[in-house]
Amino acid sequence: MEKATINLVTRSHATQLLLIISTLFASTWSFNALEVTAQALLVGFKATPSHSVSSFHPLLSDSTGNFSLGFLRVNQTQLSLTVIHNPTLQPLWQASPTTTLFSWSEKTLLFFNGSLVLSDQHAGLFWSTATTNGDKVVLLNSSNLQILNTADPPGVVWQSFDFPTDTLVENQDFRSDMTLVSSNGVYSMRLGDDYMALYAKFQGNEEQIYWKHKALEAKAAVVEGNGPISARVNAAGYIGMYQNGSTTPVDVQPFNSFQRPINRFLLVRLEQDGNLKGYYWDGTNWDLDYQAISDMCQLPSPCGPYGLCRGSGCSCLDNTTQLLGWGQCYAGQPGDLCSGGGDDKPKIGNNFWVLRRKGVDLPYKELMDYKMATSLENCEGYCEGNCSCWGAVYNNASGFCYLVDYPIQTLLSVGDEGKMGYFKVGKSAEKKKNVGLAVGVGVGVGSVVILGLLGSVGLVGCKIWRTRGERRRGVKRVLEEDEGVSPGPYKNLGSPSFSSIEMSPR
Ligand SMILES: *[C@@H]1O[C@H](CO)[C@@H](O)[C@H](O)[C@H]1NC(C)=O
Ligand SMILES: *[C@@H]1O[C@H](CO)[C@@H](O)[C@H](O)[C@H]1NC(C)=O
Ligand SMILES: *[C@@H]1O[C@H](CO)[C@@H](O)[C@H](O)[C@H]1NC(C)=O
Ligand SMILES: *[C@@H]1O[C@H](CO)[C@@H](O)[C@H](O)[C@H]1NC(C)=O
Ligand SMILES: *[C@@H]1O[C@H](CO)[C@@H](O)[C@H](O)[C@H]1NC(C)=O
Ligand SMILES: *[C@@H]1O[C@H](CO)[C@@H](O)[C@H](O)[C@H]1NC(C)=O
Repeated sequence: MEKATINLVTRSHATQLLLIISTLFASTWSFNALEVTAQALLVGFKATPSHSVSSFHPLLSDSTGNFSLGFLRVNQTQLSLTVIHNPTLQPLWQASPTTTLFSWSEKTLLFFNGSLVLSDQHAGLFWSTATTNGDKVVLLNSSNLQILNTADPPGVVWQSFDFPTDTLVENQDFRSDMTLVSSNGVYSMRLGDDYMALYAKFQGNEEQIYWKHKALEAKAAVVEGNGPISARVNAAGYIGMYQNGSTTPVDVQPFNSFQRPINRFLLVRLEQDGNLKGYYWDGTNWDLDYQAISDMCQLPSPCGPYGLCRGSGCSCLDNTTQLLGWGQCYAGQPGDLCSGGGDDKPKIGNNFWVLRRKGVDLPYKELMDYKMATSLENCEGYCEGNCSCWGAVYNNASGFCYLVDYPIQTLLSVGDEGKMGYFKVGKSAEKKKNVGLAVGVGVGVGSVVILGLLGSVGLVGCKIWRTRGERRRGVKRVLEEDEGVSPGPYKNLGSPSFSSIEMSPR
């Protein structure tokens, strides 16, 4: 709205207003933002990113001015076609988020010819909605970007709500054929027959399930064969699961603000630390309102590979190594225990060394594979000669032997010395010389580090989705005494402003 006003006043007034506005928006707005942003794009539309824009070049706005589609600058020189929340530049949807980014240069062209197409012919990059009969692009006040056919038959030919990235805004349907992927590409969320679940890709394309929420079916039951379930953030303050378009939820996961009559806009986002978090817009900030995993040590890798998490913070599994920062217990890549033997035979035992530690347990172990073992040696034996196995955790009271088939991530520190861990460390993973101090996981700083490091781990192409979660998991752990390593809610570990650290670009 401010943008429209500017064009009605004289230049000198505009300059004053500009100052005010740029202060208000913490200089996230550029001069270009002050042009009236279009309310619709028609066939023939073309745009390239402007040199002078430092953060966001808007192209299309919704009727409230809350949301815009435009070019968002990433890592200074790259570009992502993004729908953002205007006041905070918070991305809500991105075209091709986890593949190669386009460059912020005049070589990158966005045009609308029935398809919305982003292309850089020099670099051979191309993204398209692959629609043929669209004649108008609009951004709805829900932040949904739509391509419409206004002629015959009129209708929506494409919408961004069908291709979520890491965020779902309120009333956006999340269906069983969709995947939410964290912006670092490591974590994803999908729906199952009667549950929603989070998965991590710690190595290659194999996935480990680490969180599963089954529908409680309080108001309606999931009926087998009655169609797939979907999920939706409801404006009343909860994530609802629904079967086959029914309006009666089969499950309700309440936000903190559930049923409080406050006017707000809600979203959930799959974060770079693997947590699913809900926020509401209070007019100034995004306030944390929900988190799937409230205990920081239950996150998939809060202290990084070979880390050890306890309520007060992080250390390393190897007690002769001190943690210098996220992922700093061992330098280098975890390597691949199955390669290096030449021919078709993996070389066993030569490319790793073994680390043992008592008083450790796996997070989310109820979702992991296990075998029964009669002794620690027996348990280790299942893992030792198998190059797909990175480690085992044995509980001598129950005989459960959990096998870890991805590079070791963060384990939990427990008081029970009867829980014993056996871990392979790839020889390519060099031991860190300790110089520094052990660091606690200050969530604020910690999460920034996590963002940086996970970002650089990056991801390889993703074609194969082997759903290991479906294998033999979620089996009862009746024998397992769960003494609940509960170091308190995640929130307590951080500063009160930690949600704004994660959500705002400042
Ligand atoms: C729009 O442009 C793209 C890229 O040049 C092309 O592949 C596509 O066929 C065009 N669509 C129409 C409807 O002309
Ligand atoms: C958003 O658009 C819908 C449909 O056009 C309308 O009913 C609703 O009042 C609008 N909401 C706001 C906040 O403008
Ligand atoms: C949208 O704009 C209205 C009016 O300026 C404001 O009250 C509301 O908080 C905005 N919503 C969001 C999500 O920014
Ligand atoms: C490290 O752990 C081993 C075995 O768990 C123990 O014997 C040793 O005393 C520990 N060393 C330190 C420095 O805590
Ligand atoms: C090796 O370990 C993997 C992962 O734990 C398991 O799936 C596989 O069955 C094991 N192979 C043998 C021969 O035990
Ligand atoms: C399990 O291990 C602990 C610590 O090593 C030991 O004190 C305890 O006796 C063992 N329990 C059984 C049942 O073997």
